[in-house]
Amino acid sequence: MPDHRPILFFNSGVGGLSVLAPTAALLPQAPLVYVADSAGFPYGTRSEAEIAARVPALLGRLAERYDPRLIVIACNTASTIALQHVRAALDVPIVGTVPAIKPAAEMSRTRVIGVLGTEATVRQPYVDDLAARFASDCVVLRHGSAGLVSLAEAALGGTPPAPGAVAHELAGLRGQPDGHGIDVIVNACTHFPLLTAELCAAAPGVRFVDGGPGIARRVAHLTQGQSWPESPMVGKGVFTQRSARTDALAPALARFGLTEIKSL
Ligand code: DGL
Repeated sequence: MPDHRPILFFNSGVGGLSVLAPTAALLPQAPLVYVADSAGFPYGTRSEAEIAARVPALLGRLAERYDPRLIVIACNTASTIALQHVRAALDVPIVGTVPAIKPAAEMSRTRVIGVLGTEATVRQPYVDDLAARFASDCVVLRHGSAGLVSLAEAALGGTPPAPGAVAHELAGLRGQPDGHGIDVIVNACTHFPLLTAELCAAAPGVRFVDGGPGIARRVAHLTQGQSWPESPMVGKGVFTQRSARTDALAPALARFGLTEIKSL
């Protein structure tokens, strides 16, 4: 019997597309629903209490509406704050996104790594814990950038970053004491891999890592042996609030196979 239940990806905006893309490449037959909480965007400048209340409630509604076989919280901010609350509240397998500090530490030669996320993510005890467990012999510098999140949303909406804008945001990390020694930067916000070309151009010689490919492998592992629709299904893009800004993102979603746009 074909199973039509989708994999549901959740983010505050378009950032989770950097996680959806490698998953769709591994599982081309998987029906996909991509949800951008445009009414709550951005998450990175919100408080822990707001995120911890908002995300499980919203995912509960989404699980009822779309009956997903698995949910990917394709957002570091939501995952580092609310993953446990969501898992406790829902009877659906949940895959979270956490900063790729372990692979970064494995790659670093200088033993100085950067963690570039939202302001909310970089202050989480979850990040302290990852740094202590996997990078205890590294200097781990952190920087939260709401500016890069806006630049990524605008870029997907058709407005590329102004020259120097990405370098300006990176200076908050590389300009810290020891920052000149950073050789690996963790993209600890799913929006940032959408600016990979600009980030690499702004920091020559620095390598960037993110959790997208690892999450894709995890999703493939968790859904191994499950059945899929016999013919490909149209991917859905869902906004919690439609506006001119979200309408401008529709062509970008279509490039990721999400051609049916809906509001929650
Ligand atoms: N892309 C999200 C993350 O991974 C958050 C961006 C935001 O809404 O501030 O943290």
